[in-house]
Amino acid sequence: MKLIDYGVREDEKEYIQEWSKENEIEVKIVSDLLTPETVQMAKGYDGIVAYQQLPYDEKIFDTMNELGIHVISLRNVGVDNVPFKALKKNKIRLTNVPSYSPEAIAEYSVTGLMALLRNLKHMIRKVDNYDFRWEPDIGRELNQLTVGIAGTGRIGQAAIKIYQGFGAKVIAFDKFHNPELEKQGLYVDSLDTLLSQADVVSLHIPSLGKGHTVINRQSISEMKDNAIVINTARGDLINTKDLYDAVIEGKLYGAVLDVYENEVGIFNSDLSSKDLGDELLDKVIQSPRFILTPHIAFYTTKAVKNMATVSLNSMVAELQTGSSENEINLEK
Ligand code: COI
Repeated sequence: MKLIDYGVREDEKEYIQEWSKENEIEVKIVSDLLTPETVQMAKGYDGIVAYQQLPYDEKIFDTMNELGIHVISLRNVGVDNVPFKALKKNKIRLTNVPSYSPEAIAEYSVTGLMALLRNLKHMIRKVDNYDFRWEPDIGRELNQLTVGIAGTGRIGQAAIKIYQGFGAKVIAFDKFHNPELEKQGLYVDSLDTLLSQADVVSLHIPSLGKGHTVINRQSISEMKDNAIVINTARGDLINTKDLYDAVIEGKLYGAVLDVYENEVGIFNSDLSSKDLGDELLDKVIQSPRFILTPHIAFYTTKAVKNMATVSLNSMVAELQTGSSENEINLEK
């Protein structure tokens, strides 16, 4: 068996090389993203592993079919940039890594919230300029707040445990109830109820598709005054302009955004000597009430290792048995 792994960063290489040695399977490591051009490099290989934020072009899958490659394993969880139609047409199976480290994302959401509650961004900026005054950056304590968790999958559950450890009151909403959380009586009956009761709303749900936002002018009007929004999930869950306006107008306190609706091509790029070309994002970055980071909640050694190795294990299972526990149902 011979595999090819696309879009590999330096920090992923050692895990892939270790896996290759341990499993005695050749893995060609390629830093290029998977495109209609670079897919030609997969000639002679049995399976393609990849990760990228850019959409996977439909033509890639026509060529995979021509090359006789019928499995693609992603090193991440989100499959929103994969055209399922093209996979089905070419009889290509897809796997992802559904749970590389829910704790990484959960811990990061709480980190961002704590920073915002204590106005750290503003305080650090002041101290950088030798301004050591306290006022007006008085903080709020997490143990005084109600945290609303939207989405109680693995990441939401990990976040709940942390918040409970801090003594916060937790409420949650999900279409599917987790029996343990149900027993604890955490669920409210609708997202609207969650929005209206929570001091902090933390999103842990997948993208709902283009134009379907959870946080927008209308939903913000139902939220508590001074509430905080945390998004480590998908940028398109929020209408960023509406959120920004609500913070500037004083309706909401602020937000922790590790994802952004137009992040592709910006996040994980060095634009320090280029024009950002996004006025709204620039305003968000400048505001002390926004903790904005470039999709780093997942970025820990544990998660990166799991992404590298689980994707390869799924590929082996697919090629040896015709299926794997991480195969995506393309009919959904
Ligand atoms: C995903 O796994 O889909 C993520 O959102 C994290 C990604 C930046 C690797």
